[in-house]
Amino acid sequence: MITNNISEATAALVNNEIIAMPTETVYGLAGNAYSEAAVQKIFTLKKRPFYNPLIVHIKSVQFLNNVANDIPLAANKLASAFWPGSLTLVLKKQLHIPDIVTAGKTTVAVRVPNHPMALALLESLTFPLAAPSANPFGCISPTTAEHVHSYFGNDLPIILQGGSCENGVESTIIGFDNEQPILYRHGAISVEDIEAVVGKLIVNTNNNSNPDAPGMLSRHYAPSTPTYLTENVSEFIQSLSSKKIGVLVFKNKITNTSITHQEILSITGNTKEATKNLYAALHRLDNSDAEIIIAEKMPAVGLGKTINDRLQRAIKK
Ligand code: TXA
Ligand code: MG
Repeated sequence: MITNNISEATAALVNNEIIAMPTETVYGLAGNAYSEAAVQKIFTLKKRPFYNPLIVHIKSVQFLNNVANDIPLAANKLASAFWPGSLTLVLKKQLHIPDIVTAGKTTVAVRVPNHPMALALLESLTFPLAAPSANPFGCISPTTAEHVHSYFGNDLPIILQGGSCENGVESTIIGFDNEQPILYRHGAISVEDIEAVVGKLIVNTNNNSNPDAPGMLSRHYAPSTPTYLTENVSEFIQSLSSKKIGVLVFKNKITNTSITHQEILSITGNTKEATKNLYAALHRLDNSDAEIIIAEKMPAVGLGKTINDRLQRAIKK
């Protein structure tokens, strides 16, 4: 059920139950990060393979000392620059964090979310929250409480209503090789903004065989309707026989009689707005009568790289 009642959510979490909470990126499926039983429920409901570790959400940067060790200087700089916010840091883990959270790794992924409801919830608890995106494994991430409800219905008794997620795409994930920051996942904070704080990043976002991050799997974030990515939507449509076509474009509307549903991400060509709208647009396209979705590649700068990354993983292989 969708509700505004934070204390009900607190009580459920203390009882090792799981709930859905809004964050500024996407909705999360949250449970006590210190409780194996609670985290087990997250994996079961999400049908997520156990080799995919979860992000631990903490209430403030001070709490980092309760979950991580040997924190690089570059990580501290990034935490000060972007927390609370859409940046996840992969750091050496403390031993008391259950292996199920980190998939047996010696590292833990951590962030401070920037949504008043998530922060109020964390403030009410004595433990951090493990939370993957609140979608079944491989599906499009939810950016509204209604998306979460449509995925899980009554299997999830508490879905906190936090409105539309401000950033609309998952956090950017950064790990470290000593002091060298490594990008594991493109996300809501652009590479350029991160490099302005810590210098050049090594990019390692493709590792399909032994994924360090499931967001790195080549097919993920995927609509169930076959989806294609192209630089020229009009041309692509001409190569198709008449079909019910759904179209996702950056800013310029396409005119073609085969188009039955069209989503324009930002009519002013603003990539931040486009990112915020991306998943909701994909959800609507997937639920429309379109038999095929044609998506337009974004300009590959700033958050355009994040959108292209997600579209690349949404396409039919
Ligand atoms: O914005 C977000 O990050 C959202 C909200 C709910 O906070 N969460 C999210 O979680 O996107 P999830 O589970 O869908 O993605 C977590 C990513 C995965 O790609 C996972 O492999 C990576 O974090 N990850 C977690 N622990 C890791 C670790 N120790 N080393 C490398 N990657 C890790
Ligand atoms: Mg996810």
